[in-house]
Amino acid sequence: MTEPTHSQRVLSGVQPSGALHLGNYLGALKKFTALQETYDCYLFVADLHAITVWQEPAKLADQTREIAAAYLAAGLDPKRAAIFPQSAVRAHAELAWIFNCTARLGWLDRMTQFKEKSGKHKERSSVGLYTYPVLQAADILVYKATHVPVGEDQKQHLELTRDIAGKFNTDFDAPDFFPIPEPLIQGPGARVMSLRDGSAKMSKSDPSDQSRINLTDTADEILQKIKRAKTDPEPLPETIEGLTDRPEADNLVGIYAALTGETKAQVLERFGGQGFGAFKPALAEVTVAAMTPVGDAMRRYLADPAEIDRILAAGAERANAAAEPTLAEVKRIVGFWPGR
Ligand code: TRP
Repeated sequence: MTEPTHSQRVLSGVQPSGALHLGNYLGALKKFTALQETYDCYLFVADLHAITVWQEPAKLADQTREIAAAYLAAGLDPKRAAIFPQSAVRAHAELAWIFNCTARLGWLDRMTQFKEKSGKHKERSSVGLYTYPVLQAADILVYKATHVPVGEDQKQHLELTRDIAGKFNTDFDAPDFFPIPEPLIQGPGARVMSLRDGSAKMSKSDPSDQSRINLTDTADEILQKIKRAKTDPEPLPETIEGLTDRPEADNLVGIYAALTGETKAQVLERFGGQGFGAFKPALAEVTVAAMTPVGDAMRRYLADPAEIDRILAAGAERANAAAEPTLAEVKRIVGFWPGR
């Protein structure tokens, strides 16, 4: 009936609500690629989450294909990781409803992302935007995922997932039914900042395209953006302590380190004492070398949407096979017809 132990399973999702950039690549896609070696991975395109704010129906399916293409271009292997659209696995939405009845209003009232996203006009937000973290808990727990790679901004949602898992297990006297999932701490590159402002996250919603490097930018665009990136007048410091209060320098050194797999200290050993006139061309070179193959691969996948659709359909089939037994067991535990 209940499983006392859970094999190591990773789950994560990316919303199909805009073009992906270097921050998504270093903070998510590249990390997933490493994880597929050691974990059973479920990686989906969070289209149910995307519609918590308006999405153009004529574009949504293509946005979903784009995220799938980015997963594949980053090196995810559909034979290892299941890659699928969230909406193609009904169990997510069904379990989310049950969890809506487990989660407490007080828990959701504390969610800072809802406060940020709903802004001044909370009453005009969709109800989905409010209950979004409950769906996220269902995404994770319907696979009994044990590990969730998330950025800083999603940590609170993972905490809520842990609370929901614990309360469900207690309420229904099903100890250990759901695992309490752990965050996977992200190394260098977890938080890539805007090229125009070292204190703001690199974001697809920033009105300035100069603030980010998109996965599909050409070598020339990457070069120009790095050339124009905001800096300060000082040369690079010799040690990481010297990056304190220098958000732009810190960000550029961090990007370099994440792309080459070095630590910031190692990068500074080489570039400390040099000005941005010397560092920026070196940074542009490693960025172009790392990112243009990803952009090229993305374009190759996008040129063959039928192949992407085959991969998504196969991923959905695997995901359904993994999710259905959990949902059936949950329905039995809750006591739905025909009863325990
Ligand atoms: N909310 C996440 C984001 O915007 C996407 C997401 C949806 C997710 N469901 C998830 C991430 C489950 C991790 C696990 O980035």
